[in-house]
Amino acid sequence: MLVIGGGIIGLVTAWRAACRGLRTAVADPAPGGGAAQVAAGMLAAVTELHYGEQTLLGLNLASARRYPEFTAELEEASGARIGYRRCGTLAVALDADDRAHLRDLHALQIRSGLDSQWLTGRECRRLEPMLAPGVRGGLRVDGDHQVDPRRLAGALLTACERAGVVFHRSRAARLTVDGGRASGAVLADGGRVPAGQVVLAGGSWSGRLAGVPEAVLPPVRPVKGQVLRLRLPEVPAGSPAFLSRTVRAVVRGNPLYLVPRESGELVLGATSEELGFDTTVTAGGVYELLRDAHELVPGITELPLVETCAGLRPTSPDNAPLLGPTALPGLQLATGHFRNGVLLTPVTGEVMAEALATGSLPDLARPFSPARFTARGAERARVPEEQPV
Ligand code: GLY
Repeated sequence: MLVIGGGIIGLVTAWRAACRGLRTAVADPAPGGGAAQVAAGMLAAVTELHYGEQTLLGLNLASARRYPEFTAELEEASGARIGYRRCGTLAVALDADDRAHLRDLHALQIRSGLDSQWLTGRECRRLEPMLAPGVRGGLRVDGDHQVDPRRLAGALLTACERAGVVFHRSRAARLTVDGGRASGAVLADGGRVPAGQVVLAGGSWSGRLAGVPEAVLPPVRPVKGQVLRLRLPEVPAGSPAFLSRTVRAVVRGNPLYLVPRESGELVLGATSEELGFDTTVTAGGVYELLRDAHELVPGITELPLVETCAGLRPTSPDNAPLLGPTALPGLQLATGHFRNGVLLTPVTGEVMAEALATGSLPDLARPFSPARFTARGAERARVPEEQPV
C-alpha cells in the first residue's frame, strides 16, 4: 500500500495501516511537513461549529473523543510527547455584532446537544484577566482542547518508522493505472513504486496529481492561512498564566484565535485567503492579525514575535473531508480536511485503516465518501443535514 503525501493525514493513515499488518510506504520529499507546521492545533469541534455542517460535527466530535486514547498510543509508539492539553476554549465578543453572532452560535450549539456556557463580559475577564475591558460576553467551552501539531507530525513520523513504514523521499509525479486499477506511482526522481492500493493524501495538492482520471480527481482547493508565533512571559509557579486557555473571537468579521502552549509558545491566527498556492507572509496579514489581537488582548504587543508563517488548508466544496474508496479500484482518498485536519487526525487514521483492510468505510465515515461529489454517488451518500448529533 502506498500513501501519497506525508503530512499528518498521510502519516496517520500509514501508521494505522502498518499497525494492521499492511505493508506500507509513503511518498513525500519532506514527510512530517505541510499544513501541520503552520496550524495552531485547536481541537475546536464545538467553537468552530457552522450552520449546515452538523454532519461534519458528528465526525469532529468522534475524533475529539478519541484524542486521549490516541495521544496515549502515539506517545507510547513514538516515545515523544504531542502537547495534548485539556485547557478548554473561551470565545468572546468585542461588540454588539459579535455578541449577536455568538448568541446564534450558542443557540446552534445547544440545539446540537453540545456543552457551551454563556458568560457575561465580566465573567470572561474573571477567567482571563488579560482580555480587553470592552469584551461584551462570551462562550465557555470546556471540551475544546489543543495539541501541538508540529509535535504531532514528528511523533507520527517516528511511529511510522518504528512500525516499518518505508519512506520514499521524493514527490509523487504521477499515479500509475494498469488494467483499470491504481497500481502505484512514478516519483519525481524517476523511481517507480508499485502498490496494490494507493491513498491520495496530498493536502491542497490532491487535485493535481497527474494520472488520476478526471472523474475521481478530488475537488480540493487551497485556502491560505497566515499565523504568528509569540513567546509568552515566564510566570513564577503558582502565579496566573498570561492566558490559561484558547481564546477566540471574530473581529470585524475576521476569525481570530490565540492558543497558549505549555511550552511558552502563543500561536496567533489566522487569515483566510483564496489566493491559490501562494504562501507569502504579507505585511497586511501580519498587521491585521496583530491589530485584531491587540483589540482582544492588549498585552500581546509586549510579547516577542518569534515566527510568521503561512500554510494552505485543503478545502472541499462542502468543507468536509473526502475519505475512502473512489470509483477507480485501488485508489482511496484522505484529503480535504480544511480547518479540521489536526482535530480529524485520530478518526481519519482509524477509518482509513479499516477501509484499506476491508475495502469499506465504517458507518461514521460514510457521509464523507468521495462519491458524494459524483452525480450518482451523491444520491447514495446524501445525509439529512439537521440530523441530531
Ligand atoms: N482551524 C483553524 C484554522 O483553520 O485557522
